[in-house]
Amino acid sequence: MSKIAFIGAGKMAEAILKELLRAGWTDKEDAVLSDIDHARLEQMQADYGVKAAVSNSEAAQDAEIVLLAVKPQKLAEVMTGLKDVLHKEQTVISIAMGKSTEFIEALLPDGIPVVRVMPNNPAMVGAAVSVLSYGRHAGEEARARAREIFSSLGDVYELDEKLQDEAMAISGCGPAYFYVLAEALCDAGVRLGLDRDLVLKLVTGTMIGSGMMLRETGKHPAQLKDMVTSPGGSTIAALEALEEAGIRNAFYKAVTAAWGRAKEV
Ligand SMILES: NC(=O)c1ccc[n+]([C@@H]2O[C@H](COP(=O)([O-])OP(=O)(O)OC[C@H]3O[C@@H](n4cnc5c(N)ncnc54)[C@H](OP(=O)(O)O)[C@@H]3O)[C@@H](O)[C@H]2O)c1
Repeated sequence: MSKIAFIGAGKMAEAILKELLRAGWTDKEDAVLSDIDHARLEQMQADYGVKAAVSNSEAAQDAEIVLLAVKPQKLAEVMTGLKDVLHKEQTVISIAMGKSTEFIEALLPDGIPVVRVMPNNPAMVGAAVSVLSYGRHAGEEARARAREIFSSLGDVYELDEKLQDEAMAISGCGPAYFYVLAEALCDAGVRLGLDRDLVLKLVTGTMIGSGMMLRETGKHPAQLKDMVTSPGGSTIAALEALEEAGIRNAFYKAVTAAWGRAKEV
């Protein structure tokens, strides 16, 4: 079993912890959490039976993996408090959006392996897409450990860190794009007179099924779209309306706005 410390015990820490326990990657004796919110820490301890440390340093000192799961704006302060206990045999993994391995390495003693990961919100149901980039000192062992951890949460992709903000604008923010789409479709169904509970089920099943078609057929989305678009039919009429409303341009703009914002963090 692997020893892991979570610095910050919020939503993402919980999602990761839950999957690592389920996968048997760690067990409750080997997982320790720390958080400034003591009520949250007690809740996590009660829910998962894991240890709660009195400080970030206490949590990190004996762990093989130190997983930084605080908000990006708290990262520098947290790293500064940890730098005296961390050592080269540990691997530091950060999931803080927009914070580079270079930024983290500069706050640590030299030589500590650092891995930067951008998971996404479906981590909460074990269906994340996680994008991994490695710092200067992350050797094969540190990389393999990070891949193992995030594979238990879903799909893992390795990427040159220069492209992390670009990937974040797709998969990091992407769940919100799909949730807005789902919400809009539900309202449109209600507009036609469908029951709201039923229409939500129809939309959810359609999104999941379409995702599975993309994954399992390996076909390009344009080919799959053509499969359901008969000449002169209802679907092409709907697509014409979407194009008139500028749907593709809206996505270009949304993704570019997300990317621009990530650069500012
Ligand atoms: N949520 C997502 O879908 C998602 C996806 C990808 C990446 N991320 C990244 O994951 C990280 C965590 O996000 P989250 O959604 O899990 O946030 P969260 O629920 O707010 O969890 C962060 C936790 O860290 C605690 N904390 C704050 N300062 C601390 C300190 N000095 N020492 C120890 N704990 C401290 C917070 O306590 P207080 O609430 O009292 O401040 C909170 O309980 C962020 O960097 C985010 O960019 C999130």
